Amino acid sequence: MSPRGDRVVVRAPAKINLALRVGPLREDGYHELVSVFQAVSLFEEVSARLPEDDEGVSVVVRGPGAAEVPTDASNLAVRAALLLAERTGAAPRARLAVRKTVPVGGGMAGGSADAAAALLACDLLWGTGLHREELAELGAELGSDVPFALVGGTALGTGRGERLSPVLGRGEYHWVLALSPDGLSTPQVYAELDRLRAAGEAPVPELEPDVPQELGQALRSGDPARVGAALVNDLQEAACSLRPGLRRALALGEDHGALGGLVSGSGPTVAFLVPDSDAALELAVALTASGVASDVRRVTGPVPGARSVEPVATSPHHPSHSSR
Ligand code: C5P
Repeated sequence: MSPRGDRVVVRAPAKINLALRVGPLREDGYHELVSVFQAVSLFEEVSARLPEDDEGVSVVVRGPGAAEVPTDASNLAVRAALLLAERTGAAPRARLAVRKTVPVGGGMAGGSADAAAALLACDLLWGTGLHREELAELGAELGSDVPFALVGGTALGTGRGERLSPVLGRGEYHWVLALSPDGLSTPQVYAELDRLRAAGEAPVPELEPDVPQELGQALRSGDPARVGAALVNDLQEAACSLRPGLRRALALGEDHGALGGLVSGSGPTVAFLVPDSDAALELAVALTASGVASDVRRVTGPVPGARSVEPVATSPHHPSHSSR
């Protein structure tokens, strides 16, 4: 049981890939990749409580796009809870409530954040006491981006993206996110990249993908203009090929003072780096007025990985917290 009583609330951040270099398709169906992730201030929140009777693990999902998220055993938060129970021997009993803020299928790893938050929430609820690295290892079995949602900050990911090491950097970065009304399927975007490469319409990768050195230097300098110039995403062409409208959003950001812009992960969210909060507001207004985005968010990064927050005693319909 958690030290705070019968309910645990954990929030976990979304990510932007500052660099995403995609190598060739591997035999296991994944692509070898090198990525620099940054966790940003857009959070999924998962609360966990023990059921009153003999129930197992159940989930309710609330917030934008909730209707598109399954609530059966395929839900990533449920899978996370069941995996933790299986590996630790804890009884798999939890009522989970996910409050979504991260766009569903948006290329910002919202589902991975749910899994990360559920792992930590159930670990606290059941008192299984795993280290963060152990939770991250379990997370890697659930999805390539789950370990990063536990770790947060800015990190280099290799392998499928699940092997992480911290990236030294300084400064706070201001981002404007242009959201799309419909998500993109990550496997489809990777498949489109393979198709473009086979057709000679996208550069064929080296065996060992690499992150541009300029990005590491730029992050160490803390200069957002240098970081903006070094942003790169090998999946961008594939996402734009499936959603040509994304090119308009990218061009608009460039015209309105963004230091850099790119499709986030497999898209369709487009992320723009701007110099400061004033510039973020200006760009957000321009994006909204142009109609290229269904919604716009201003966020900052880096932020920490999954953390427990104090549950607030409100109605069960509002599993909110006090720290935002
Ligand atoms: O691991 P995750 O569930 O996040 O991956 C979703 C899908 O994205 C995979 O099934 C695969 O098609 C694609 N993927 C990939 N190479 C990676 C990561 C993901 O091809 N490194």
